Amino acid sequence: MTAKNLTRPIITMIQHVTEAQREFPGASGDLSWILSGIELATRIIQSYVRRAGIGNVLGTLDGTNVQGEVVQKLDVVANETIMRCLGYREIVGIMLSEEDDEPNVVKSPGAGGKYIVLFDPLDGSSNIDVNVSIGTIFSVLRCCEGVPEAKGPMPHILQCGTEQVAAGYVVYGSSTVMVYTTGDGVHLFTLDPSIGTFVLQQENVRMPEKGRTYSVNEAYFATFPVGVQKYLSWAKTKEAGGYGLRYIGSLVADFHRTLLKGGVFLYPPTAKNPEGKLRLLYEANPLAMIAEQAGGVATDFRGRILEKRPEALHERTPLLIGSAGEVARVMKFVS
Ligand code: AHG
Ligand code: MN
Ligand code: MN
Repeated sequence: MTAKNLTRPIITMIQHVTEAQREFPGASGDLSWILSGIELATRIIQSYVRRAGIGNVLGTLDGTNVQGEVVQKLDVVANETIMRCLGYREIVGIMLSEEDDEPNVVKSPGAGGKYIVLFDPLDGSSNIDVNVSIGTIFSVLRCCEGVPEAKGPMPHILQCGTEQVAAGYVVYGSSTVMVYTTGDGVHLFTLDPSIGTFVLQQENVRMPEKGRTYSVNEAYFATFPVGVQKYLSWAKTKEAGGYGLRYIGSLVADFHRTLLKGGVFLYPPTAKNPEGKLRLLYEANPLAMIAEQAGGVATDFRGRILEKRPEALHERTPLLIGSAGEVARVMKFVS
């Protein structure tokens, strides 16, 4: 090992969050407590993912979820793991999962529930059985002040993405990578399986300003908005200068590549999903916060994702996210 490596500090994700919180005088440490619960859950989930074929968690369960989608066993395992890791952390008030019709109110704001955790426990479920990267996406909101208990959980949950206090994801890929932000830059950790700990790899990740990669399911090309069709056709011309198409079918993996390499990910409105397929609260909003913190852009082809006023728990949104320069180019064709 060369001398320089010896001087490279080993910083765990919990250490990083705790130190970051110290910069905010009067910070209670609550947020790091929540993020440590999420970190624990994703370490357990990755242990199931890595043994999926052995641990009998492949395949589907009968019935469909609130999304009307077939439920994979691993969806349920991931969902229950997050609930069990977070549900007993006294400051967690409400949890909203992609897999559950209704929010899980563990402690009402009046009784001390301070935070809301929204999550897609397993993103890219269709890829589980074929060993392609999948992930977990999470978003953290603070409960609103002064909302009468009688109003229930909805006013606390249906907040704009700009109100998120933390957001992040884990990609269960060739390695297990955690990316998070608390609004002060985007930081990247890799799980060291030999010690079962997420170790800091990169602080203040920046998304490249440009990138000649577009990520979209072109099977739906015929029903994309005309402007999107024009962009995709232009990208294939010699004049465009050589674009590549990369589409994994797991949003979290397609986004992670875009964060590191640049380009754009698009899930436009289609005939099958006129409002887009991806969910605002626990897919688009957290990734939009990460993208913006890294210098990227996230829009619904009309306005800023983070400024959308949610109206329903599982509402869907069109999503165009990635390098600022490339998003601007798409928007020129669209508007
Ligand atoms: P989930 O598995 O959580 O339902 O998410 C699947 C999403 C997203 O991960 C991916 O980008 C998209 O579905 C793929 O949709 P298509 O198969 O329509 O391309
Ligand atoms: Mn998903
Ligand atoms: Mn999912």
